[in-house]
Amino acid sequence: MAKPRILLTRKWPKQVEQHLAKRYDVTGNPSDQPMDSTQLKAALRSFDAVLPTVTDKLDDAVFDQGNMQVKILANYGVGFAHIDSDAAKNNNIVVTNTPEILSECTADIAMTLMLMVARRAGEGERQLRAGAWQGWHPTHMIGSKVSGKTLGIIGFGRIGQEMARRAHFGFGMKILVQNRSTIDPEILSEYGATQLESVDDFLPLCDFVSLHCPGGSANRHLINRQRLDLMKPTAFLINTARGEVIDDSALAKALKQKDIAGAGLDVFEREPDINQDLAGIENLVMLPHLGSSTAETRIGMGLRVADNLDAFFDGCEPKDRVV
Ligand code: DGY
Repeated sequence: MAKPRILLTRKWPKQVEQHLAKRYDVTGNPSDQPMDSTQLKAALRSFDAVLPTVTDKLDDAVFDQGNMQVKILANYGVGFAHIDSDAAKNNNIVVTNTPEILSECTADIAMTLMLMVARRAGEGERQLRAGAWQGWHPTHMIGSKVSGKTLGIIGFGRIGQEMARRAHFGFGMKILVQNRSTIDPEILSEYGATQLESVDDFLPLCDFVSLHCPGGSANRHLINRQRLDLMKPTAFLINTARGEVIDDSALAKALKQKDIAGAGLDVFEREPDINQDLAGIENLVMLPHLGSSTAETRIGMGLRVADNLDAFFDGCEPKDRVV
């Protein structure tokens, strides 16, 4: 029997590509350029499985065609708001993602951003590299203490819980939670966490706010001008979820006016393009979407996609089916 034809829309870790090649007829993307909608449309017409990532905008228009060959979109990544779930469903296309495997590393990057912005690590490194450091002195680059403060987590799924684990057990932080559904009290008590009903009641209580909710239209600009105003002027905002969750023009304004103390961003609404309002703001740390980027995790994500594909082509329900 012919091997199923699968397309990797970006370059993947070599060992995962080799692993997939044992069972599948693999087409890769050696140039590693993101695909445009014409290329994605053609892919849905000609491959049995397409393995997209966050850089592939699989919107309604991409599905709006006849003669689609594709049966499964096995996404490389946990977030899948870049895939129009309704359009996939209406076309009987299965969608899977890669949860769990990246929770620890994404929480590590959120911790990195939190520590960097509170302790002014980015500013300090820039000063040192510019040869502008005058040496130690008692009033040099004073930051904010992290240990013992209150961390508010929006979105208490696996990544949010890993963040709580690090912050609570590693840094003695008090954890507040905001989540659409009610979290099992046993899970909350594991981290000494308290869940609050509304975002607006929760924001004024936090010294740090870390976003771990899904992206997409439901949460677009969840953090807007009004909500930034509800935060303490001494508070910091961290985003490792999706760029669209924050109105970044409103954030730039709040940072410039010192309405909040600082922010750490790993994700951006139109990445890799960065809103120029954010350029040059000192109390802002920015990373290029590094949340899951460790060798262990990126290989693990690829193998998880392979498991989902194997189940699908064996006629079983893939473990990580989301559509
Ligand atoms: C994820 O897994 O969602 C990462 O952000 C990469 O897409």
